[in-house]
This record gives sequence, structure tokens and C-alpha cells, in this order.
Amino acid sequence: MDKFKRYTITAALPYANGPKHIGHLAGAYIPADLYVRYLRLSGKDVVFVCGSDEHGTAIPNQAMKEGTTPQAIIDKYHQLNKESFQKLDISFDIYHRTSEPIHHQTAQDFFKVLDQKKVFTIETSEQYYDADAQTFLADRYIVGTCPKCSFEGAYGDQCEKCGTALSPNELINPKSTLTGNKPILKETKHWYLPMDRYEDWLKEWILKGHQHDWRANVYGQCKSWIDGGLAARAITRDLDWGIDVPAEGAEGKKLYVWFDAPIGYISATKQWAIDQGKDWQLYWKDQDTKLVHFIGKDNIVFHCIIFPIMLHAHGDYILPENVPANEFMNLEGDKMSTSRGWSIEMHEYLEDFPDKVDELRYYLTAIAPETADSEFTWKDYQARVNNELVAILGNFVNRVMVLMHKYFEGKVTGASTGIKDPTLHKEISTAYDELGASFENYKFRQAQQNMMEVARLGNRYLTEQEPWKTFKEDPEATREVLHECLYIIGHLATLMQPFLPGTAQKLFRMLNLKSAYRFDEAFVFEDGHTLQQPELLFQKIEDETIEQQIQKLNAKKASMETSATTPELNPAKAAINYDQFSAMDIRVGTILAAEKVAKTQKLLKLTIDTGLDQRTVVSGIAEHYEPEAIIGQQVSILVNLEPREIKGIMSQGMILMAENAEGKLSFVSPIAAMNNGSTVR
Ligand code: MF3
Ligand code: ZN
Repeated sequence: MDKFKRYTITAALPYANGPKHIGHLAGAYIPADLYVRYLRLSGKDVVFVCGSDEHGTAIPNQAMKEGTTPQAIIDKYHQLNKESFQKLDISFDIYHRTSEPIHHQTAQDFFKVLDQKKVFTIETSEQYYDADAQTFLADRYIVGTCPKCSFEGAYGDQCEKCGTALSPNELINPKSTLTGNKPILKETKHWYLPMDRYEDWLKEWILKGHQHDWRANVYGQCKSWIDGGLAARAITRDLDWGIDVPAEGAEGKKLYVWFDAPIGYISATKQWAIDQGKDWQLYWKDQDTKLVHFIGKDNIVFHCIIFPIMLHAHGDYILPENVPANEFMNLEGDKMSTSRGWSIEMHEYLEDFPDKVDELRYYLTAIAPETADSEFTWKDYQARVNNELVAILGNFVNRVMVLMHKYFEGKVTGASTGIKDPTLHKEISTAYDELGASFENYKFRQAQQNMMEVARLGNRYLTEQEPWKTFKEDPEATREVLHECLYIIGHLATLMQPFLPGTAQKLFRMLNLKSAYRFDEAFVFEDGHTLQQPELLFQKIEDETIEQQIQKLNAKKASMETSATTPELNPAKAAINYDQFSAMDIRVGTILAAEKVAKTQKLLKLTIDTGLDQRTVVSGIAEHYEPEAIIGQQVSILVNLEPREIKGIMSQGMILMAENAEGKLSFVSPIAAMNNGSTVR
């Protein structure tokens, strides 16, 4: 065991912009939970923090997609993810939110300290700006033609057609998605973290200091970043959504999400400390505290380089001891992706298998992508559950429990304080040691195998001893063997607690013991101790169930593909004020006459009674309505639009039309007949 007095364990704060899938679960949350449970079972003082990351452009982007507000998005997905984690027995001490005032305060205070210490540089640069919407445009809000593949709908950060990463100024013919305007370049000022100034420090701390204890993939990524040379990185943004930058001249600017999010670990700890009557500072500022970040590999630079620079520059904080980042988990031969529909979301699994939480934890740990990408397949899931949990673990426990009831009415007779057979005793104590060493080295797959070794050992012992053969001639010999087995089961239950918390509790209940045991805590079956009736710990998973899941996955992907090819709605426009709205004079009018405009496909010349006057309007609806069919139709008309000459005809005003994503048009008319000239507002 290491030298630390207490532990601060973090798991990456998931963006509250959607549900999280089992790849995320396997990458960060399960390993973090395993480690934390191991520490707690070893009697350590631990705080385990997580929560929703509620800033960044991901949130307003999702709001736009769902046609709602950023606040509604974070409320919805915070709740969904929080509940999923709870059901999956991820034992956070707190699941916080970066939208909480205590977090805004903490992040701003952190910024202010760095600002006062003159850590930041301030630079002015030119960024795209939408003059009508009066806003700088985040990369995602700019579309244009991809310089690589000529796709016309490429975003300012990426072309989704060919996958090229872009910056907005590379786009040909850029347009603002807010107004369709061509954006202009405008000067803006931002605060930068000059990471280049910390290169020497990082070389000491990571390249020298953590060469041997950090995972090779993590160390390797850090090394290539540092060797490649670090640049200053902007930590402020021109955005509406986020935490205000607490500095002069920063009006309208927000902190960059990757500046505030990791500080979220600190604010979560503060809130937990308030709730529990603890001192948060001990968990972040005391050299005897061990800080460990659990993340997926896409977050390595932020947790190993940027956040540590922030902590170091601040000066009061400890640094992470380790960042055991995982590689990715693929699904049935392809990359997992929520947006492409190729994923199993946590809540989806829970809906289909509400009572198979430990089965999922077990499988995801068995194939954890600790050193390389790994692959989830439903067939392999089935095989692991059936051949390992059912056939080895469940079977051993069940055989012992059934025999105890069959021969001895489930009653222990004669006091014994533990395993008697010296070889067995030694094997069990070795299992504890090996499991401990696996955990200390963040080898969770290995740790789970160390636990399963105990079940294998029990099976082997039972098969060798054959207590059912001795019962007739020598029932005491049978009793001895089964008592030994009961102790093995007790140890197995103790060791399985990190991996299979629900099953461990069930097992302790069957054994009629307490519901939890620390690793160093003894349990005894006293003379007369009675066992509960055995229940099966795991059920076999049938082929049919697996087939259904594979079909479901394929169907989900197919439905995403069709929805991706159906046209998208126009994005939402920038906000306007009430005056801008009420400046429009919209009236109910009636079409008195209609005729095609010669030599055009689309245009109709309409005569409208607006109640104020009779006027001519040219409208692009000829492909949708026959002129004869619309005489007498009531419509909404914008009457104070500047007159415009179209094909030699003066058009006075505009008829309001609803248009769907496929381009179908429909009049917007009052549903009760109204006098011409009635206002629309
Ligand atoms: N929200 C980020 C993601 O999902 C992770 C943030 S981790 C934190 O990739 F350190 F910033 F909190
Ligand atoms: Zn492209």
C-alpha cells in the first residue's frame, strides 16, 4: 500500500449534451469505481467526485438540434446520466454540476489568482463575426465548402464528409449558420495560457518523474505533445453560454470549457465537504493526498498537461499522482458512436437488463481497454456471463449452499474461525495480495481475474474432495470440507465487492453475514450459524436475447442513417428584441386574383385585399399552388416590407409561408375567418 493518508479520485465530467454509452462507462467510470471501492475496502479515506460538464459549445449545439434551450438540455441529460450511474452502482460521493453557483465562483476565483499572478498573456486576433446577429461565431456556427473534398456543408471545425479537421478560415465561401450571412473578420481579445513557458517544468515532472508509474500510452502521448513543443492556448471565448470571465475588458466573454471543467472536480469536492462537514482543502492541497484522474484517452492532454499547468501555476494545489487513461472500446467491429447510432447507451442497457448490472460491470472489466482498444460483442458478453459468472462463480456457490442444506439443514456445527487446510489458507491469502497489487498498479482486468481465481480454486477443491461421496460413512469429513468451502465463499464475497457489488451483498445475505466486509475484517461462522436458502446468483443468457440485441443495434443504426439523409431543418436564428418583432406589420388579407408570371416557373402575381388597400404581390409559390385554386384564400401578409421590383412587376409586401425541411410550402392563415386588415402579432 502506498504512503498516502487520503485519496481524491475523479472521473471525467461527462458533457450533459446527451446520454453516455457503455464505452464511456468502461473507459472511465467503472475503473474509477473499482479503484475507489478497493480503497474504501482497504480502510482508506477517499472522496470520489464526478458530475456534469455543462458548458462549451456542445450544449447550445444540442439545444439547437432539439429545438430547445441550453438549460433544458443540461437539466435533461444531467438527470439521465446521474440516474444511469446510480443504477450501475458507480459509487460517487457526489455527482455535481458545473452550472452550480459554487462552481462558477470557484472557477472565477481560480482565474483571478492566475490573472493576478500574471500567468496569462492577452492577445488580439481576428475572428469571424456575424454583423446582423452581432456575435462572434463559434467554429460550429460557420459552414462553407471543404477545401479538401469540396463538400458544401463543412463546419468551421471539421468536414463531416471527409473527416478533415478544419479551422474556420480554411472554409471556402464561409456562411454564418445564424443568418446565412457571409461573416466578417473582426478583432477580438483573448486570455491565453502560455503553455510553452512550462515545458521545462513538464519535462521534469512527467518525462522524468512519471516514466515508470504512468501507463505507456499516457506517458507516450504526453511525451509527443511535450517534444512537439507547446503553444499558448486561449482560455476565453466569445460565447453566450458559460462562465463570465472576471476581468476588465472581458465583457461578453466566457471561460473556455476546458478551463472551467476540471476545476469542476474542485467545486464538487467543496460541495461534498459542505454536505459532510469536512475540510475540502485537505483533499486538494495536502501533500499526503493522492489525486488520481480516471479518463478516456481523448482527454489525456487536458488532464496531464493543461490542468496540471493550471494547478502548478496557481501554486496551492497538489498534482495528479496518476492518470490511468483507457483506450477506446469498439462495438461489434466498429467504432462506438452515439450520433451514428452504433452504440449501447447506458440507459438503453438498463432498460433491457435492469437486473443484470453486475454482468455488465463484469464484462466491461474483463475486456477493459487498458493497454489497447478492445471490442464489445454481444456473443462474447453472453459467453463470459454463461461460462464464467454462471458456470464458475455461481456454480461453486450454489453447489456448496445446496449441499449444506441437503446434509446439514444449512447449519454450521462446531466453532471454527477460518480455513483450516494450510494450502487453501495460503492460496486465499495470496489471492488478497495479488488482487491488492493489481489494484495498486491500476490493472483492473487482472484484479478481477485474481478474484475469479478464488472461485476456480473453490471449484477445484470441491471436485477433489467430493464431499457427497463421504457423507454416508463419514459425515464429519463432509462437514469439514463444506465448512472450508463456506469460508472460501466468504472470502470470494469479500473480494468480489469492487467488481460485483450487488452480487456480493446477495451472497453475504445468503451466508447470513453483514452486508459488507473490509478486506482486513474477519468473519466467522459460529457454532449454530444458519445459512439462508440459496438463490441463483446469475442466470444463463439465451441465444435469443443476444440475437435481439444485435438486431436492435442494426435497426438503430439504419434509422440514424435514414434520418441523416432526410434534409435538416434550418438552424435557429439569433435572438431579436421585441421592438424588432413589432416593427413588422403583418395583416390578414384575401387573394382576389392570381396568375402566373410569364417566363417563370415559380412566380405567381397575386392581387391581395389587405383591408388597407388592394395591392400586387409577387410570390414564389407557383410550383405549390394552381392560380385558380387559391382565389378567396385568406393569407398573412407582411405589408410594410419595402416594395421591390420582380420581373418588371412592383411587389408590395410578402405573403407568409410555412416551409418544411423538404421545401413543401403552405399558407399561414387564420383558422377562423377574420376581417381583412386584422393584425397578426
Ligand atoms: N466533458 C468532457 C468530455 O466528455 C470531459 C471533461 S473532464 C473535466 O470529454 F476534467 F474537464 F472535467
Ligand atoms: Zn471534406
